[in-house]
Amino acid sequence: EIQETVDLALFGALGDLSQRKLLPALYHLDREGLLADDTRLLGLARQNLELDAFKEQVRTTLTRYTKPVELDDTVLERFLARLDYVRLDFTQTEGYNAIRQWRETRRPSPLVIYLAVGASLYGDICRHLQRSDSLDESCRVVVEKPIGHDLESSADINDAIGDVFPESRIYRIDHYLGKETVQNLIALRFANPLFGTQWNQNHISHVEITVAEKVGIEGRWGYFDQAGQLRDMVQNHLLQLLCLIAMEPPSNLDADAIRDEKVKVLKALKPFTGEALGRDVVRGQYTVGNSGGKNVPGYLEEEGANTESRTETFVAMKTEVANWRWAGVPFYLRTGKRMPEKLSQIVIHFRQQPHYIFDPDQRGLATNKLIIRLQPEEGIALQVLTKDSGLDKGMRLRPGPLHLDFNDAFSKSRIPDAYERLLLEAMKGQQYLFVRRDEVEHAWRWCDHLIAEWEAREEPPRRYPAGSWGPVASIAMITQDGRSWYEDY
Ligand code: BG6
Repeated sequence: EIQETVDLALFGALGDLSQRKLLPALYHLDREGLLADDTRLLGLARQNLELDAFKEQVRTTLTRYTKPVELDDTVLERFLARLDYVRLDFTQTEGYNAIRQWRETRRPSPLVIYLAVGASLYGDICRHLQRSDSLDESCRVVVEKPIGHDLESSADINDAIGDVFPESRIYRIDHYLGKETVQNLIALRFANPLFGTQWNQNHISHVEITVAEKVGIEGRWGYFDQAGQLRDMVQNHLLQLLCLIAMEPPSNLDADAIRDEKVKVLKALKPFTGEALGRDVVRGQYTVGNSGGKNVPGYLEEEGANTESRTETFVAMKTEVANWRWAGVPFYLRTGKRMPEKLSQIVIHFRQQPHYIFDPDQRGLATNKLIIRLQPEEGIALQVLTKDSGLDKGMRLRPGPLHLDFNDAFSKSRIPDAYERLLLEAMKGQQYLFVRRDEVEHAWRWCDHLIAEWEAREEPPRRYPAGSWGPVASIAMITQDGRSWYEDY
């Protein structure tokens, strides 16, 4: 619970992110009793709306996006009563006086400023906030990805925000860090000696991270075609997951203790050069296919498409964290749009026993695997080998899961959305689930290098039919190492 009153100013209150994610998340926080009684929320957007119309809009949004949870009328009325609205042209300083005036009507309390707008506006908004004298030392700013499209542009954006806010008051969101299972990764690794002692190249043979999406680009051609899957997903979400798997134990749970360790991982990531580029990285682009029983267009036939585009909608790569803990352990990463399932999971594959005494035919049976699943259902499973039951089976082995399904195990409580956790932490002033500037920049440096190599090679992406697991080459990339992608869940 947040003991003190914290107010929130939401830039882009009528935009997609606010409507789909932020307002529902705030409603849930209110429902859980996690907002102080007099916390208020100032919606800011360009549209000319009366407060009542804004409230109506929020009511409609909540009805739509908090499903399947039934709205609770008492909570809904309480939540709507917290709202204020100001029409604002984000590019003009004058209008910002309204924010200062709004704050002056309130008992002094910390303000969380959430910029749910394009990154090109971050710098302007911060400057106008400062010029209009709307800020004090209690103000924190929350910003969304993408922060730039390469190291240079991200540095410009970070500079512009940094001119107004110190790093300790900048909260960069990577919503994957707010997912329940992702946080469980920290608990699993650092609370259980069983895993703590095994978590290195002596015991782990390889790691897989899959973030597959069923959807295509959902009408976001303009943004996506400039970005591509590497910038859209790998630079942030997949590398953050990789960091949490690979980092050294932090000395405590402080934001900087954790982030220092993540930065070391990013610095140790091997760049792709020479032969590794052709062998260990696969770029793909989906073509027409079938998704969930429906025929769907290829990327180049999407609405507004440039039919010459070489932007990738899929990437698979085999990388390595070049340090003592991980030397020689491949990290296989893959992510794509228009895949058969929405499936995000991390699979840690443990090594074989040094000596094998069972049926030689069963030698190829799976070894221990730890499966950390983020989507569709969150859960953690440990694959173990046990004896198959039955008198006629002898000492036959059977792989099976030791299983923790969060929905079953904690069935009484709803699994909170990532944004609920992140908003709550920002309101509490806790930064450990947010990304520090140097993390963003090291991740860009690594991706920029790869993109530059791709551009120099001028190879078109490989095709894969929508609804498949990506180009055949991405399967070959792992099978040539005698392994395969783990797709069960
Ligand atoms: C966003 C990407 O950051 O993450 C989208 O820009 C992607 O392209 C989304 O669809 C996936 O998030 P989630 O939580 O649905 O896995």
